[in-house]
Amino acid sequence: MPTLCNVLLFFAAAYPWLAGAAPSAADPCAKIAGLTFVPPADALACYKSFPFNQTLFENVLDNMDRVFDFFTFEDFYLNSPPPFQESTNNIRATLAKIRQTKFQTDYDFNKALYDFTTQLNDGHTRYFPNCYNVFQNILPAPVISLDVNGVSNVYIAPDSVEFISLLGTSYTNFFTQIGFDWQRLAGAKVLEIEGMDAYAYVDLIAKTVSGNYLDHGVRVNSVFTSYRISGTVFSQRLGDLAGPEDVTRTSLTFKLIPAGSTKVETVSVPYLASYTGLPFTDSATFWAANCAPNAGTNGVDLRGQSNLPNNAKKVQKRIKASIIDGLNSKAVGLPGPFLPTAPPVDGSEDVIKSFILPDKKTGVMFVGSFEPSDFDQFQSDVVATTAAFKAAGVTQLLIDLTNNGGGFVCLGQFLHQFLAGSQIGYPGFQSTQRGNPLAQKIVAAHVAMGVNDIGTFYSPDNWAFLNDTIMPVTFNYDKPTLPFVVNGRIDPTSQRFHDTCTEGFSQPIPTTPPFDLNKVAIVSNGDCASTCAMFSTLMFERHRTKIAVFGGKPGEVMEYKGMAGNQVLEWADLDTEIKSVGLQNDPLAPPELLVNSNFRHNWRTAWSFFDEARPIAYVSELPQLRFSYTNDTYNNPQNLWTFAASKLFA
Ligand SMILES: *[C@@H]1O[C@H](CO)[C@@H](O)[C@H](O)[C@H]1NC(C)=O
Ligand SMILES: *[C@@H]1O[C@H](CO)[C@@H](O)[C@H](O)[C@H]1NC(C)=O
Ligand SMILES: *[C@@H]1O[C@H](CO)[C@@H](O)[C@H](O)[C@H]1NC(C)=O
Repeated sequence: MPTLCNVLLFFAAAYPWLAGAAPSAADPCAKIAGLTFVPPADALACYKSFPFNQTLFENVLDNMDRVFDFFTFEDFYLNSPPPFQESTNNIRATLAKIRQTKFQTDYDFNKALYDFTTQLNDGHTRYFPNCYNVFQNILPAPVISLDVNGVSNVYIAPDSVEFISLLGTSYTNFFTQIGFDWQRLAGAKVLEIEGMDAYAYVDLIAKTVSGNYLDHGVRVNSVFTSYRISGTVFSQRLGDLAGPEDVTRTSLTFKLIPAGSTKVETVSVPYLASYTGLPFTDSATFWAANCAPNAGTNGVDLRGQSNLPNNAKKVQKRIKASIIDGLNSKAVGLPGPFLPTAPPVDGSEDVIKSFILPDKKTGVMFVGSFEPSDFDQFQSDVVATTAAFKAAGVTQLLIDLTNNGGGFVCLGQFLHQFLAGSQIGYPGFQSTQRGNPLAQKIVAAHVAMGVNDIGTFYSPDNWAFLNDTIMPVTFNYDKPTLPFVVNGRIDPTSQRFHDTCTEGFSQPIPTTPPFDLNKVAIVSNGDCASTCAMFSTLMFERHRTKIAVFGGKPGEVMEYKGMAGNQVLEWADLDTEIKSVGLQNDPLAPPELLVNSNFRHNWRTAWSFFDEARPIAYVSELPQLRFSYTNDTYNNPQNLWTFAASKLFA
């Protein structure tokens, strides 16, 4: 019989973070507790203090295996169509290989899954171990590709001093203390990074770190620093080289020529990691705060709960297609000197910022996201802005979609239909879900509930037939499923359906376009995800809207959109769908997660208007115009808009 003392000793050895011992110098998490910024090696030591756990390993892999059954693009990955070959991956074979791998720590296992799903390059289909995504590594040397006198090169962002200073003295003091002068690097011309040609290294980060976008060219732009709207304010994104959610690199070695110099130098620039998680004091409290499952980790059975969505209008408001950009967690503003000087017009309080350019005829709507703080306000902002533009005599509309990570599917359709007028009819794409055996059971369960249905995403009356009549609650759109074959795999889908967004619009749609559609153009950096990708594809496919993309790697092809899934379900959403029709004990149902992670997946496909046999995600569509950034435009939206207007409306 083990004695109590033996049991406690065993516990302290096997689960040091649970033993409740006073934090000691030996606890790597206690060492960094309470700090906002920590050297990445210390962050990594805390991550690696949690031993490999077989139960968690099997739980997460079982969950993933079964969630992948719902992933609409799984079979495309066997041989990703050109130009998206970089994403090719035999998903089931990779999972089987991970099951065979011996991992040293819980972190190593989670990092392998994070890297694997990140490199699928579908922002809707990623594994986020919240436990190990709480540090963002920050380099005080964000990079950007600039055209200077007609020649492109990688530079340390010329505004680095203004920009990085916004992180505050708790960040910059670290460099002062170690005597590292990062300010002098601003504007330096970068020749090599880690011994590689600068652009080749950028390509490597785009391939291994960035994720989210199927198109490699688009991912290159997320490696660089760029302007954006974060929340409801102008912001500058660090980029995936200077701000990855990854603490494995402690420094980066550049071969560069400082601004104003001709001398080539080799400089090793240290990273400093920013903590974005919840407060902790040691390993045990770090685990409790960030890693243990919480009330939101898994789904709930909605049956018998009050506040049911209960009608299609409310469900449609929750339909999302968006990426999770970890680089939003430590957002700082766009430095003051680079903010637009034109005064904002009405409707600019939320995620849309609108301006009239000094030429007085160009109105700019910078649509930073389709995920506003208020669904209905977004629509009234579009109406207010349009009215202000019309009143001021604006005749041409420039829409900036730079770094728009998507959001509510129905707001993308609203903006499209508002600009195109109600005469165009249905403002979205044909859509399907995967018709796997469990999905078929879920739809059948909704049909069986009939008028007592609970109104979740799988509910038939959430969707419309292709003639835009809403489906009866008893219509089984998976009976029969439709045949679909991709890469030699038989992969049936649901019957085709339409969204029912128009029923939820709170603002009237004009019958004719408010602006001549030939005088509407789009600019972006290509990092336009999900709902943003669908909006720009609708504008291009249906109205031939001119699109200009800035940045990227010179000479490398770049799409105008990055990732165009039709709807994302977080793991908890899918679990709610399954539990709410009583199928949680079905052998095909993924198990509840025992850790605070999220395995989200792309749940619906949008089919191209041009070719309804192809998902728009896999249709290569290039911008009509492509421009390099310059020192005047990369971080200065108004300068970029002025330049773009001169080219797009010429
Ligand atoms: C592994 O994790 C499970 C679930 O959190 C836990 O119950 C178990 O005690 C852990 N096992 C070890 C050996 O730490
Ligand atoms: C729309 O299509 C459905 C399914 O084909 C059909 O049952 C329904 O009658 C149609 N509605 C109209 C108004 O044509
Ligand atoms: C870039 O522009 C800023 C002003 O925005 C200026 O101060 C700086 O000298 C410029 N740098 C280069 C390399 O042209």
